[in-house]
Amino acid sequence: MEKLKYYQTVFQSFLEDNVITEQPKNLYDPVNYILGLGGKRIRPTLTLMGADVFGGTVENALNAAMAVEVFHNFSLVHDDIMDAAPLRRGSETVHTKWDINTGILSGDAMLILAYQYLERYDSELFKPLVKLFSKTAREVCEGQQYDVDFETRSDVTIPEYLHMIEYKTAVLVGCAFQMGAMIAGVPVEDQQKIYEFGRLLGVAFQLQDDYLDAFGDPKKFGKQVGGDIIENKKTYLYLKALELGNLEESFSLERLFQEKAIGDNTEKISKAKVIFNSSGSAAATQDAIKQYTEEAFAIANELNVSEENKQLLLGFGTYLMNRRV
Ligand code: IPE
Ligand code: IPE
Ligand code: MG
Ligand code: MG
Ligand code: MG
Repeated sequence: MEKLKYYQTVFQSFLEDNVITEQPKNLYDPVNYILGLGGKRIRPTLTLMGADVFGGTVENALNAAMAVEVFHNFSLVHDDIMDAAPLRRGSETVHTKWDINTGILSGDAMLILAYQYLERYDSELFKPLVKLFSKTAREVCEGQQYDVDFETRSDVTIPEYLHMIEYKTAVLVGCAFQMGAMIAGVPVEDQQKIYEFGRLLGVAFQLQDDYLDAFGDPKKFGKQVGGDIIENKKTYLYLKALELGNLEESFSLERLFQEKAIGDNTEKISKAKVIFNSSGSAAATQDAIKQYTEEAFAIANELNVSEENKQLLLGFGTYLMNRRV
């Protein structure tokens, strides 16, 4: 995966060249902080890869890659407020380190900053990029709202959950790829196909995120393990456990998820995890991750790219499926 490292290195140095030095400090320090904490840099890598596999240049895609990563980081700052999350990338979340108001405004500034990176493109390219970006950004908000609405609903279905994760997460993965393809100047059909590849990988990615939220290694994961259980998130793990579990398992799980937990949640987390395992839901989640990844791979095989580039895309999908962070 030499190529992946190359994209990451190029992106990282672009990011470092673009650290904000303007005032006021309390607006921009959190922006530099969250962007500097790293993370996997998946989405910008996809924009660079999207341009590269279709014969565009990585350099031309850097501003779009930055727009996607800044937008993603904006969504994380606000998401951490909404999810009352203490930890992000192994460090304090912005609203914990500063306060909620700082998180709101620095997040807003990042959303605007993302658009300013797109302004660096000529108008013929700017228009389609912004159109896709804005459509995607609104879908992310819709997905986030469903995610929050589901916390207090007890009748969420698996199709509703899949729609929610498609919006809050998968569409941005598709968008990241498609912006790369747009910059490479390929026809709309090719752009849509790589979007679809990204969207399916994105669904697998969020299923994996939900799985790791419960079963990840706290030393490596970088986020509070069990956070989704504390917040009564209606994840695939939860919904599948209700479907597959026996009456007793379903009953206790529903009861555990009825109240917003306060204080020590260790017992709630461990009880829920036992049921996720015993009901067969943890295994079913792993199967679903595989299935969406395979669906994505079937699309990748139809792409108009060289065999070598196809392998690059498939390699990235495999890396995502096996990630533990
Ligand atoms: C976290 O995304 C938010 C989700 C959509 C699950 P990542 O897991 O890509 O976060 P970073 O950027 O690597 O920290
Ligand atoms: C986040 O989903 C999706 C967005 C930020 C749009 P999660 O709430 O599952 O992400 P993490 O687990 O906090 O990274
Ligand atoms: Mg969250
Ligand atoms: Mg969330
Ligand atoms: Mg999560």
